[in-house]
Parts: sequence; structure tokens; C-alpha cells
Amino acid sequence: MTQKNPTIYVLNGPNLNLLGTREPEIYGSTTLADIEDAMAARAAELGLGIDFRQSNQEGDLVDWIQEAGREGAALIINAAAYTHTSVAIGDAVSAIDVPVYEVHLSNIFAREEFRHHSYISAAAKGVVCGFGAMGYNMAIEAIAGNLKTTD
Ligand code: DQA
Repeated sequence: MTQKNPTIYVLNGPNLNLLGTREPEIYGSTTLADIEDAMAARAAELGLGIDFRQSNQEGDLVDWIQEAGREGAALIINAAAYTHTSVAIGDAVSAIDVPVYEVHLSNIFAREEFRHHSYISAAAKGVVCGFGAMGYNMAIEAIAGNLKTTD
């Protein structure tokens, strides 16, 4: 792994800024700020840092994925709807040399057919979906374990 510092990039795509009020029956009542706080706390316990961001713009996410490849130890990404539509985001995660963990709050395979395909999964080391906000910290645990055993 080309690890320059133990910072985990956590990138969130469109509409995830609305978590807490957005379709809570699907996405829960936890806000994105709550998720960031929980991740920062757990990462600190594990001796890691997080760089947590959200954008509704596809190009921002592409730029940040490239930055994660240059500056990060790993990438956790919930690309939200772009997961299912964006060749550019799929290409970006394929282009970087750090482990990528794909996260979705909901179980995308139990939902509409168009959510069953992901442009990210083929380049991901792991995919977590259907565990709600907890899925993000599950990815952190996996990253911490992998950093310990592979470096
Ligand atoms: C999501 C699932 C996507 O299908 C959807 O477009 C989202 C959120 C999730 O976290 O469950 O915006 O990525």
C-alpha cells in the first residue's frame, strides 16, 4: 500500500447532506454530521484520521477520489445515486492505488433494479450495504485491521 499518512478519506455523494430528514424510513434519522462525529471518534481510537466530505457535484467527487489516491491511506465512499450512473467515478476509483470501501446505508439489492448495479464495486476491496450509519464504521474497522496486517 502506498501509505503516506494514515488518513482515511470519506466521500459522500448527492443528497446525503439531507440525511436525517431524507426518507428516514429508508435512510434512518442519523444525520451526516452524526456519522462524521462517530467516525472521527472511532478513527481517533484506532490511531487514524478521517477527512470527511460531501458534494452534490460529480466532478468534486472525481477530484477528491484522485486526491485520496495521492494523499490518503484508504477511501470510504458512498457515491449515492452516482454509484449507479457514473462511469467517471468508476474510472476514478479504478485509477487509484489505495483500498476503496464502498458503503451504502440501505440494502441496494433489496431496492429498485437500477440500484443493483454499481460502477464502483469492481474496484472496491469491500462493499458494505444495508447496515445504516453503522456501515461507515464497519469499513473503518476493516481498514484498521488491514493496515495492521498488511503494513
Ligand atoms: C445510497 C443508495 C443509493 O441508491 C441512493 O441513490 C442514495 C443513497 C445509500 O446510502 O443507501 O442516495 O447510496
